[in-house]
Amino acid sequence: MNPIKHVAIIMDGNGRWGLKQKKSRNYGHKAGLKTVEKIIKISIKQKIPYLTLFAFSTENWKRPQTEIKFLLNLLENFLKNKLDELIKQNIKLKIIGNKKKFPVKIKRIINHSENKTKGNKSLQINLALNYGSKSEIVDSIKTLIKKKQIINEKKISLNLYTTNLPDPDILIRTGNTKRLSNFLLWQLAYSEIFFEKKLWPDFNEIDYLKILNKFKNIKRNFGNI
Ligand code: IPE
Ligand code: IPE
Ligand code: MG
Repeated sequence: MNPIKHVAIIMDGNGRWGLKQKKSRNYGHKAGLKTVEKIIKISIKQKIPYLTLFAFSTENWKRPQTEIKFLLNLLENFLKNKLDELIKQNIKLKIIGNKKKFPVKIKRIINHSENKTKGNKSLQINLALNYGSKSEIVDSIKTLIKKKQIINEKKISLNLYTTNLPDPDILIRTGNTKRLSNFLLWQLAYSEIFFEKKLWPDFNEIDYLKILNKFKNIKRNFGNI
């Protein structure tokens, strides 16, 4: 049975879900948060040490201002209202992505949440915000050049946002779309990939557990036989 150390998720389909309910795309984003909470709970129960969630890509700034504002608000309120609960659940929160582009008040709450949870041990959540994999790789190489270090796979990995975390064992993308959308291109080299038809707000505990169980019995070769 394969152990599960790291699960990465592209939480896609919120907007379409909202419209399907004859409501707004933003209504879908709000509903998507409930799924996030469900998946966190199961991940802790299953003793998975790392969960990486794609919440906002470097390309998502192309969306209408009203949607971006709504998403930032949702993030702010989530962190404000749920920080105590995250601490109670012994969760460590880490942001991966470029924080610079966010408004000051968001940066402040993000940094505060990271600080308050940095010693926690049950589950590390990497929240990918303003995250883009290509620029992450370029930045890693630039850092190595600046420090006059040799460039090899180990060094490039160490200078990514994920530094010395194990690579994801599993990637899940909901929303019936089969693409990576600039997510963890380096780290997913040998991950098992599960594309889910369901939109993120419809994805539930049973769907998640099914994937975890399927993964446990996959023969992983890593090039070997
Ligand atoms: C994913 O859902 C969440 C974010 C990108 C913030 P989408 O907003 O992409 O939902 P669809 O794919 O348009 O339905
Ligand atoms: C990927 O979803 C980003 C997140 C889930 C945050 P998108 O909906 O932005 O991806 P594309 O644009 O359809 O590839
Ligand atoms: Mg989408």
